[in-house]
Amino acid sequence: MDFQNVIDREQTNSMKWDFYPDVYGADDLWPMWVADMDFQAPKPVLDAMHEVINHGVFGYHRRPNSLFDATTSWLKHRFDWSVSAEQIVFTPGVVPAISHIIQTFTEKGDGIIIQPPVYFPFYALVNNNERNLLRNPLQETEEGFTMDFEDLEEKMKEAEMMILCSPHNPIGRVWTEEELTKLAELAEKHGVLVVSDEIHADIILEGKHTPFSKAAAGKDVETMTCLAPSKTFNLASLQLSYVVFENSESKKAYENHLQREFVGINNPLASAAAEAAYRHGEEWLEQMLEYVKDNVQHVKQYVENEMPEVKVIKPEGTYLIWIDMHGLNMENKELEQWLRSDAKLALSDGPNFGKEGGGFVRMNAACPRETLEEGLRRLKEAYDRLMA
Ligand SMILES: Cc1ncc(COP(=O)(O)O)c(C=O)c1O
Repeated sequence: MDFQNVIDREQTNSMKWDFYPDVYGADDLWPMWVADMDFQAPKPVLDAMHEVINHGVFGYHRRPNSLFDATTSWLKHRFDWSVSAEQIVFTPGVVPAISHIIQTFTEKGDGIIIQPPVYFPFYALVNNNERNLLRNPLQETEEGFTMDFEDLEEKMKEAEMMILCSPHNPIGRVWTEEELTKLAELAEKHGVLVVSDEIHADIILEGKHTPFSKAAAGKDVETMTCLAPSKTFNLASLQLSYVVFENSESKKAYENHLQREFVGINNPLASAAAEAAYRHGEEWLEQMLEYVKDNVQHVKQYVENEMPEVKVIKPEGTYLIWIDMHGLNMENKELEQWLRSDAKLALSDGPNFGKEGGGFVRMNAACPRETLEEGLRRLKEAYDRLMA
């Protein structure tokens, strides 16, 4: 696969390329916001989808056992995590899955912990379901971002549930086994259900991903893990994800909830794509990770050399780069305005991820180098004008 190859996504109804004017109010920006990749999916995935299309009958579909097999084999192979098909429930997205978990396992007013700055739908998931949002902000230290375990323990005293983001979007931490074990100990002590959003689990640039459920094994703590091939293989619009349950009664309760809500996923293209990705996509994934690592390194070096007042937080995981712009001494609104009107960039604004994201932006590095360089060029030119 040639990741250098620029594929024109304009006028394809791409959220990132075609709909940014609705969000940013300008139509001449360079889009580096939505968390998808500008790469084509692996060839075996496209072949599998073509086969379904060639058959041409799109009547009601059931997820085949072979998809469950491919999924459990992937989890065993990539994370040495033994999961059986009976533990898995497929869902039409990680975000809806978390919403349904909240509805099934908590009551109105219950406390749910999140760790800001964090993937912004987590706020809406808690608020829309009328649960009580408990914030356990990450701490920035000399060694980078870490969890504030002292505060976490305080929040756990009032919480029924926690939504863990692992790896963490937007700060890019790949939590260590030690950190996750500590979290599991606290969750056990305070009886908190941990829902671990591991949608980025396959996108590890440095270190090793530990499924939270493995770190919690042997402890009396309930965990549910949300995963998907969507970020890994750029299949997000196919809407296929899944939850791994450790407790069969909880799984039943969740399935009953989905049934009551008539939520199912019946898309044969998604099943074919996911199965092919898990069976035959690993080589593509390894190449993509190398390419993205180089991109991330390039951004870091370029920014260090050319924009000394800007600081790149190098991600250990995800293809998203958290960039600290406090050195430009701008208020949030001013920074947003500058990025749009002067740099002509559509980056994700830090405050979207919570107030701790003020002064930061998130840049998506899953694109051909040429696309990345255009974004960096625009940023540098605006930076030079600002510093002049
Ligand atoms: C942490 C995290 N969870 C969930 C999602 C989206 O999940 P889905 O499209 O399956 O609802 C994203 C997408 O950016 C994400 O970063």
